[in-house]
Amino acid sequence: MKVTVVGAGAVGASCAEYIAIKDFASEVVLLDIKEGFAEGKAMDLMQTASLNGFDTKIVGTTNDYTKTAGSDIVVITSGIPRKPGMTREELIGINAGIVKSVSSSLIEHSPNAIMIVVSNPMDTMTYLVHKTTDLPKNRIIGMGGALDSARFKYRLAEALGAPISDVDGMVIGGHSDKGMVPLTRLATRNSVPVSEFISEERLAQVMEDTKVGGATLTKLLGTSAWYAPGAAVSGLVQAIACDQKKIFPCSTLLEGEFGLNDLCIGVPVVLGRNGIEKIVEIDLSDAEKAKMQESAEGVKKTNGLLAL
Ligand code: 2OP
Repeated sequence: MKVTVVGAGAVGASCAEYIAIKDFASEVVLLDIKEGFAEGKAMDLMQTASLNGFDTKIVGTTNDYTKTAGSDIVVITSGIPRKPGMTREELIGINAGIVKSVSSSLIEHSPNAIMIVVSNPMDTMTYLVHKTTDLPKNRIIGMGGALDSARFKYRLAEALGAPISDVDGMVIGGHSDKGMVPLTRLATRNSVPVSEFISEERLAQVMEDTKVGGATLTKLLGTSAWYAPGAAVSGLVQAIACDQKKIFPCSTLLEGEFGLNDLCIGVPVVLGRNGIEKIVEIDLSDAEKAKMQESAEGVKKTNGLLAL
């Protein structure tokens, strides 16, 4: 199992690190345009191998796509991250050009790869990859919902005063401050609806804190977060590599599912060796449907900025 991660910045490197630590891939190639940067990160990470007990080989390269040839899974993290006060949508001008050329180069060298898009604005970048590569929809996956759901569970556990392992919950919709739809109705603490434990007001607060999860960290860190994004990507990569058939909310091309068309947005999917093996069309309440509709309108507005 060979995995390529494009972009050796904080998100790309932490993604490579978590993949290596989980030790299911034979090789991770880290590629960056900055001279020597990916080689340096790869060497530093390889020097943790004996300490962290993994055998995954991590190779760094400065923009040499021949080193990525024959990858089974490719991850695009390249582009600029947001700075405090910026929305993800504001990154489109620079990141669209980068994602377009990176996705073409990746597919040229790994025509059978499954592609995971992390660069922001992620739902629009995932849609752009569809338009650029023309790959079947099961092989293009946008990473947002896995991260947003992890942040949702963190906030739920905090509000419940419960361990995170006791909490389950999912965020669908667009990966944006306004577009996320945390499904509080379906969130549970060990199978019991969370509404049994906390008030509607507290749950509304959890929802708001989840939606601005990335912005809160960007303000604290001065740049966008990396540990949870890296861990979320590694979860998707592992589900595909190990054919786990796990359900994650991911951004995928919708063609009528959830009443939506011609956009990529976060919905629950089954991930296995073929990438997105199934879109899980859960029943949403009228209020959730309305939120999804509004979220989709936001994503479509950003898609409209693409020069397709
Ligand atoms: C975040 O929410 C990077 O978009 C990512 O932190």
